[in-house]
Amino acid sequence: MHLEHWFPTPIWNSTIEFDRISVLEECYRIKNADPQGRKISNRGGWQSDELIIGDNQIFEQLYSGIQSKCSEVYKSIDTDFKGRIDTLWININKPSDYNAAHCHPFGALSGVVYINVSDVSGKIRFNNPSIRQHYPIDGYDSPLFFMYTDFKPENHKMLIFPSWISHEVFPSPDSDENRVSMSFNITQIKI
Ligand SMILES: [Fe+2]
Repeated sequence: MHLEHWFPTPIWNSTIEFDRISVLEECYRIKNADPQGRKISNRGGWQSDELIIGDNQIFEQLYSGIQSKCSEVYKSIDTDFKGRIDTLWININKPSDYNAAHCHPFGALSGVVYINVSDVSGKIRFNNPSIRQHYPIDGYDSPLFFMYTDFKPENHKMLIFPSWISHEVFPSPDSDENRVSMSFNITQIKI
C-alpha cells in the first residue's frame, strides 16, 4: 500500500553545548535589571524582553548553537528556504508558575532550550492541532488520534517545532528549582 504523509507535525529534539552556569547567571542578571519583564503566556513567571543577537558575549555560544540546529533543520526539510533566528527571550518560572496554551503567530518555527530544570520540572505539552481530535471517536490513545504529547525538560535540551502548534508549560510543584529556559522564533528566508 502506498502511503503519503500530508499533515505531519514535526518536533525536533536535540542538545546544545553552552556554559550553563554563566548563561544562568546572566539570565538572572537581566531579570534583576528588569524585574517586571513582560506578560504574554506566562502566568506568574518572568519573561524578558526580546534579546538582541550580537549584544551579549555570554549568550553567543548558545545563539550560534541554536542557529546551527536551525540550519540543520532547514537542510533536512529540503526546501528553497533557510531559517534564521528572529527573536529570543528568557523565561524564569518559579515552581508554581506556568504558561497557558499559546502559539507563536509571527514565527515559522519556534523552539526552546532548557537552561536550568530539575528532574521534576514542569513538562511542555504540544496539543494535537487536528480538528479530528474534536470528534467523539474512540481510540484517542492511538498514534492517529493522540490529543497531545508531552516532553520532559532537561538541561541543554532543545526542541524546535512549528510556530503554529499550540503548546503549554506546566508548573513544577515538586521542584525546588526555578525553571529557566530560552525561547526563540525562527523566520524563513528564500534562498
Ligand atoms: Fe511558547
